[in-house]
Amino acid sequence: MVSTPLIPGLPATIAWENDCLSILDQTRLPQETAVEKLTTAEEVWRAIHELRVRGAPAIGVAAAYGLCVAMRASLHLPMSEFRARLVAQAAYLDSARPTAVNLSWSLKRMIQAAQASSAGDPTSLLSALVDEAITIHHEDRALCDGIGEHGVALITEGCGVLTHCNAGALATTGLGTATAPIYKAHDAGTRFRVYADETRPLLQGARLTAYELQQAGVDVTLITDSMAASIMAQGLVDLVIVGTDRVAANGDFANKIGTFGLAIVARHFGIPFYVACPSSTLDLQTATGREIVIEERRDDEVTHLYGQRIAPENMKVRNPAFDVTPYELVTGFITERGIVKRPFERNLAALFAMEGDAA
Ligand code: MRU
Repeated sequence: MVSTPLIPGLPATIAWENDCLSILDQTRLPQETAVEKLTTAEEVWRAIHELRVRGAPAIGVAAAYGLCVAMRASLHLPMSEFRARLVAQAAYLDSARPTAVNLSWSLKRMIQAAQASSAGDPTSLLSALVDEAITIHHEDRALCDGIGEHGVALITEGCGVLTHCNAGALATTGLGTATAPIYKAHDAGTRFRVYADETRPLLQGARLTAYELQQAGVDVTLITDSMAASIMAQGLVDLVIVGTDRVAANGDFANKIGTFGLAIVARHFGIPFYVACPSSTLDLQTATGREIVIEERRDDEVTHLYGQRIAPENMKVRNPAFDVTPYELVTGFITERGIVKRPFERNLAALFAMEGDAA
């Protein structure tokens, strides 16, 4: 069983209990706490695509379990067909969202575990796959913890921290990435303030980050995205920490739309800008941010709020879910192995080349 909740009063982001996968439906938070059981590949695909489970590390863990759920329907197949079906189902789940590398990273690990397994029948191979998914899940919690250990010293008494989107416990199965140093500093009794950008269009900052930090008793203030520069100009922000969906070999990184603008503003004010990055989000096979595929989402996420139209009919819309921030604007990457400073290309490779090569 892997399902311990980290946010008081909330079920775990992802749970695997009695061989069943369930997720906390994040589209309904904070108004409703709804847990959804996922029993087919299609249900897992839709849950990831529709952001009921979201955040780069969480979708990696959900997909690993999702592949196990998907393969249950193929246990009657001969072994060679079972293996072929496994590869096809992994490719299908991988197509749910393109930007966060954690999705393909965890599915590749599942395929590699199957290739390495000496199981002679589908049931034994499925059992090896479940073991690998549980390992990925446990590792995710440990990665968050490591980021918290290394990042906590950045948060000092009386300081102001700004974050964007939700790179919190809800985006992972642990303490979050950007929020891990925040939770550790809070636990250590440090007094500090957090500003959470609401994060248009889907409001992960307002609905999720503000919620989970408030539940944990952290001093958090919600702001609209357009307020960040003004809050910084007032001297209220000493540090920005954001999460990421993919870090390229040179340190360019993708994260929720609006991150790039925030990094430019932070540079204007000379405010340190850190990116919390578990090794599962590092993609050393991608040379620069130009090669990162940015997910384009539906128009109605921009033209509507909670089902209510807020823009004229027939409006032309752009809705990229992520942007790429060039490495020049990054102060450092907070990883589970330490804070990586410049030159990023050399230092990221030195710390993580093995994992990048395996990806
Ligand atoms: O579209 P989302 O909600 O999945 O976007 C999430 C983010 O951009 C997070 O900052 C990122 O995945 C890191 S989560 C630890």
